[in-house]
Amino acid sequence: MKGIILAGGLGSRLAPMTHVTNKHLLPVYDRPMIHFPIEQLVGAGIEEILIVTGGNAAGDFLRLLGNGRDFGLRHLNYTYQDGEGGIAEALGLAEYFADEGPVCVILGDNIFENPIRPAVDAYRADPTGAMVLLKEVDDPERFGVARFEADGSEGAATGELGQRVSTGVGARIAEIIEKPADPPSRFAVTGCYLYDARVFEIIRGLSPSARGELEITDVNNRYLGWGELRHHVVDGWWTDAGTIPSLHRASRLVAAQRTSTENA
Ligand code: DAU
Repeated sequence: MKGIILAGGLGSRLAPMTHVTNKHLLPVYDRPMIHFPIEQLVGAGIEEILIVTGGNAAGDFLRLLGNGRDFGLRHLNYTYQDGEGGIAEALGLAEYFADEGPVCVILGDNIFENPIRPAVDAYRADPTGAMVLLKEVDDPERFGVARFEADGSEGAATGELGQRVSTGVGARIAEIIEKPADPPSRFAVTGCYLYDARVFEIIRGLSPSARGELEITDVNNRYLGWGELRHHVVDGWWTDAGTIPSLHRASRLVAAQRTSTENA
């Protein structure tokens, strides 16, 4: 399986820093943000990696990462997204690289406490359809959010179904809603996705959303409509780092993790 890191976009929510550099080159505690998704992919046994980037500082990725030797890689691949037409648009640029095979996609501003490897291995065992990684959060309105079958119904409050809906494990997703004003659950769709080659066909058929972007949530809902969207609830903390508060939070979480590892 190949890996794709989406690190395009203009990072306007991190202005003024992003006036002079790419968001994914900013530090999260002790290293550049882009190191985290690379480490995750390498840790999941993925060695063929494409970074999709954009903006004025794209050349700095090469200066920082080269061929990825610091991560034990022999090659790193790069491609360029003009403007910020959305996550799905950025992914569409990776079709040549995927070359009809399954891909693990990770957003460049997503940081997971624990390895994503268990989810990647589960998908590897049956690399068809799509898989999303979910995490329960306190602020679901900032993300794509899963609505589970039976969410809000009487049965969901009790018994085995209630247990599934409240933990997300074994529940069935009915719909994913992008940044809902009134979230149907607290399960955010994180920025790690596994897809088969049909993802590129889906992207070609998308239309821009109200915010003018090709939305990854529309891609996931298409797989859902086919009955081919699986999910995995991640252990440990997860955060994005694309806003000032979340970048600060990410740095604090990584700092605490480093300290606890050093003291272990
Ligand atoms: O972090 C998880 C969330 O990421 C999901 O829950 C949402 O469903 C998904 O839409 C996305 O939400 P955001 O609005 O927070 O995404 P953002 O625009 O911040 O983009 C996240 C990353 O995607 C960014 O760090 C780089 C990449 N990206 C984004 C855009 C808009 C691109 O490579 N190109 C783009 O044009």
